[in-house]
Formats: sequence, structure tokens, C-alpha cells
Amino acid sequence: MTRESWTTRLGFILAAVGSAVGLGNLWRFPWMTAENGGSAFLVVYLGIILLVGVPGLLAEFVIGRRSKRNPAGALYRLSNGSGSWGIVGLLGVFTALVLLSFYSVVGGWILRYVGASVTGAYFGNPGYFDAISFGAEAAAFHVAFLGLTSLIVVGGVRSGIEKATTVMTPLIVVMLAALAVWAISQSGADAGLAFYLDFDADYLQANPISVLQAAAGQALFTLSLGVGTMITYASYLGEDNSLAFDGSVIAILNTGVGVLAGLVVFPLLFALQGGLSETAAGGGPGALFVSVASAFQQVPFGQLLAVGFFGVVLLAALSSSISMLEIPVAYLVDEHDVSRRSATLGLAGLILVTGTVCALNPDLFTTVSGPVVDTLLTAGLAGFLVFAGWVLGGDALAEYGTGSGRIARALGVPWLWSIRTVLPVFLLVTLGLSLGLV
Ligand code: TRP
Repeated sequence: MTRESWTTRLGFILAAVGSAVGLGNLWRFPWMTAENGGSAFLVVYLGIILLVGVPGLLAEFVIGRRSKRNPAGALYRLSNGSGSWGIVGLLGVFTALVLLSFYSVVGGWILRYVGASVTGAYFGNPGYFDAISFGAEAAAFHVAFLGLTSLIVVGGVRSGIEKATTVMTPLIVVMLAALAVWAISQSGADAGLAFYLDFDADYLQANPISVLQAAAGQALFTLSLGVGTMITYASYLGEDNSLAFDGSVIAILNTGVGVLAGLVVFPLLFALQGGLSETAAGGGPGALFVSVASAFQQVPFGQLLAVGFFGVVLLAALSSSISMLEIPVAYLVDEHDVSRRSATLGLAGLILVTGTVCALNPDLFTTVSGPVVDTLLTAGLAGFLVFAGWVLGGDALAEYGTGSGRIARALGVPWLWSIRTVLPVFLLVTLGLSLGLV
């Protein structure tokens, strides 16, 4: 059977943006910014996106387009059958399963909040989130979210993923922009903007390492790096366009959506709620749900707006979760001749179990979604960079150059040396810091 490919270049870009834009942007990013020095954090974060994120994205693209394979098959074949490199790729397949196990639980919460916005179930009930976040019902909603994810993935690259994300991704941007305009126009929104974008250089100076770590972790997660999502998506590229151009567009749109999400969340909280609630101030998985939900309670048509808001979050989460499931599916289809249908069903069955375990264990959930994921992503991306830089080497540069314009080509050699030297070292130091080894 011939391998599938995207119908158009735009289809690929929208699918990749759909993967990148997710809970990382809508929920994690605004909080990280507010907690780490406001716009001072933003500056560091933008620097890392540009200097680590984009080169990393390009390394994954190069591996994917050159091999036309899932991460495990890509590293194995491109290294002429090295088992060790195959294992590095396989680690990505494993990480995808870990990621989806917790992401799908959060997806379940969102699904529930969309429904609860229609009925108004959480209005006037600040304990709602705690009541629904873990337990048997949380597990049931996780299964429902996983079902939606599988339904798209089973449709394949063109009629499943591409079709879904070509509708969802533009819708996310438009709806979020509309919500931001509305939120900023509320009286009292200024306090929220000041809190969000306050330039706290002192904080940065006092905590340079933790800010750097936070920014690096966020940059990898939000660009879907270190697992092989971008290897897999680029493996479905049919024609050779400029990877550097496509990668820049993806990074810019993704960052824009993060900033936009902050423009919705903070004005909303300050204008309508007079600031951060207790739960929100500490961040944590419940922050978005508790505070945003209670803010909507105060406005006319609040229920309708809440449905819109949680609807956007749901679309964003779904267009990301399909990119996680697609990695192991592609692996089984490419390497083990399993049909897409059986692969999707079998893997959904597996994640049904692992996700349920997460939905029943708050402590496990917190560990998996935090340190475990951070470690796996950082190590994974370091592996991909070293692979592209040293194993592919000149071939990586040739693949990068195919289809690229003059400016991109001029940046090729600096790109190659950065992924060979500085960037892996940077990632390993971040990894060591977070594991307490350095
Ligand atoms: N980037 C997505 C977000 O911000 C999450 C995501 C999707 C992801 N695929 C990934 C994260 C692969 C890491 C690796 O929510």
C-alpha cells in the first residue's frame, strides 16, 4: 500500500499548528508567564523559541521528510539499521503514549466543562472542579475524549487529520481573537493586562535558572517537540517546500495563540473577578477551570460565552491529542504491517487503561504530567538533534536545503552547527538541572 500524504502544503501547516496549539498555550502558557516575571519571562521564552524551538522543529522535519517514516523507523533506517538509534526513536513512541494518558484526562475535564456550561452546573459552585477532576466519572469522560481522538485518527492522514484540522485550527484562532477583544473591552481589564505583562526584571535577575528552565520546558511542550510528532507529520509531506519557512510560520502562529490566550484569561479574571482566586494563584491543573468558569458567571450571556470558551479549548486539545495518537499508529502501520484501523483501536484500548489509571490517581497524574513529561521531552529532543546533526550531518543539510529560499539556505550551516553543539548541551544541562544532577 502506498503511504499517505497531505493534500496541500497548507493542510500540513494547519495540522502542525493544530498539534502545537493546545492546552500548553491556553492553560500552561499564561500561568507560566504570570508566575515567572510577566513580560520579562516572555522575552526569555521568545528567545528560546527562536534559538532552540525553531531549530529543533527543523531537525524533526528533516528526519521526517527524509525518511518518510514514524520516529522509530526513521532513526533505524536513516542510521542504516542501528538498533540503538531505533531505540531512541522507539522512546518517542513510548513518550507519546505517556503524554496521551494524561492529556486525555484533561481532555475529559474540558468535555465535561462544555456540557456543564450549557447546563450551568458549575455556576455558583466553586467546588465543582475538585468534585469532578478525579475518579470514575473523570475516567468516563477521558474515555469519551479518547473516543473522539481515535475517530479522527482512524480516518487517516487526509480524510481524518487533515480534514479535521483544516476546520479546527482556523476556528480556534478566530474564536480566541473574538474572545480576547471582548475580554479586553471589559472595564477593569487593565489590571489583568498589567499583571500578565508586567516587566519584572528583578524576578528574572533573582531566579535566572528557574525562569530559564520554565521557559525551556514550555517551549518544547508547546511546539510538540521531543516525541516525534513533527517527524511523523513531516513524513507525510509529498512535495518539497521550504521547511524553514513552514517551521517559522508554525512557530509564529503558535506563539501568537499563547499570547492571545493570556489576553483572554487575565483581563477576564481581573475585570470580572477582581483578581486571582486562591486556587488560581497557585496555578495547578484546576486554575483555568475554576477561575475562568467563575468569571463567566458574572456576565450576561455568560453561559453562552463559556460554551464558546471551553469549546475553543476542546478543539485545541483535540487537534493536539490526535497528533499524539498518530505517532504509535504510524509506527504500527509502517513497521508491523498492522492496518490503521486495528492499530488505532488497539492503542485506544491501551490508553483507555493507562489514562484511567491517571484519572484515578491524582498524585500519579501530577508526576506524569510534570517531571516525567519534561524529562522525556528534553531527552527525546536532545536525541533527535544529535541524530540529525551527527548521523545525518551533510544529508540533513541537503534535506534542509531542498525547497528552501535564499535566506533559509544561508542559515543552513549555522543551523547544522547549532543542533550539533550548543543546543544538545543546553538541553542536557536543563535536564540535569531539573533532575538535580547539575
Ligand atoms: N503542543 C501541545 C500543547 O501545547 C501538546 C502536544 C501535542 C505535544 N503533541 C505533542 C507535546 C507532542 C509534546 C509532544 O498542548
